[in-house]
Amino acid sequence: MPNNGASKPGEKLKQGRIAPANAEWIAEAGQMIRSGALVAFPTETVYGLGADATNGEAVARVFEAKGRPTFNPLIVHVLGLEQALIIGQFSPVARRLTEAFWPGPLTLVVPRSDTSDVSDLVSAGLPTVALRAPEHPVARALLVEAQRPLAAPSANRSGHVSATQAQHVAADLGEKAAVILDAGPTPHGMESTVLSVVGDTPTLLRPGAITVEAIEEVLGEHLARGDETSSTPASPGQLESHYAPRAKMRLNAFEWGPDDAVLAFGPVAEAPARAFINLSPSGDLVEAAAHLFAALRTLDASGAATIVATPIPKHGLGEAINDRLKRAAAPRD
Ligand code: TXA
Ligand code: MG
Repeated sequence: MPNNGASKPGEKLKQGRIAPANAEWIAEAGQMIRSGALVAFPTETVYGLGADATNGEAVARVFEAKGRPTFNPLIVHVLGLEQALIIGQFSPVARRLTEAFWPGPLTLVVPRSDTSDVSDLVSAGLPTVALRAPEHPVARALLVEAQRPLAAPSANRSGHVSATQAQHVAADLGEKAAVILDAGPTPHGMESTVLSVVGDTPTLLRPGAITVEAIEEVLGEHLARGDETSSTPASPGQLESHYAPRAKMRLNAFEWGPDDAVLAFGPVAEAPARAFINLSPSGDLVEAAAHLFAALRTLDASGAATIVATPIPKHGLGEAINDRLKRAAAPRD
């Protein structure tokens, strides 16, 4: 993969601080985490901006680097259930979900445990904590080297399009990470699914890389949505305009002008446009999710004032894709 950095930790990193995710750099990055620095790293979903979750100052730096409001809590990344149990309390159904989907792109919001040594800042004042065990080998190797749980939001400017390539991280966060570990484009390209398992009823807070259908198969019942149960607060990060490019977005449209940028899906005929990307000409939602955020960044870079998106089916990964597009199109302040 292209990177503009040094191949060994002794060599100086160029601007952007991109380094190959090899064993030497991962060991160096683990050391950086322990000393309180921020490290951007790949996961199977999107790149994360990681800090030692037990170090309040390091966690505060994550909010500052992203320009993220401190009422929006962070996900804590761990190697698996054993490490997660020190931080959160897992009900039988929560354990069943970890058995089915960990390591992998499922984040569980659970009550904090008394033994938790994670900074209170991570939870933004909530009595709960979001935990996930990533499956990307670089994320796992970094967790091993750091010997700490990693608080890591997506490595983009707050409210902007998520980063699925190291270059996206460099463009959004510049020198705010001590190093950006580059392992190429992230495989899913879509954030983890966030489920609350605080009460008796698991509740979907954010659709993501694991489909609702797959979760319902494990639960053996219908999965409640955040807005269906009044007892569960929606995910704080899901309330605002989010995933937003600079251009305005127009959704579910089949018509555009030559100055518009177009985000297409399926067998859509290509008409003149300033820029045109088809997420999956064959109509494959997995392929579309993997390309979504990079496509939004490329279309935005065309300079078009408006990005027009053609309809995307709502089932499977389409739920998460439509959620991101809806927020990208939401009014901004
Ligand atoms: O795939 C992912 O989940 C990526 C990679 C890096 O792991 N991370 C990610 O983090 O998307 P972030 O910070 O961009 O989104 C985390 C979401 C936000 O919507 C936040 O509000 C929610 O999880 N969240 C975190 N802690 C929570 C809590 N205690 N209660 C409810 N929602 C929580
Ligand atoms: Mg995010």
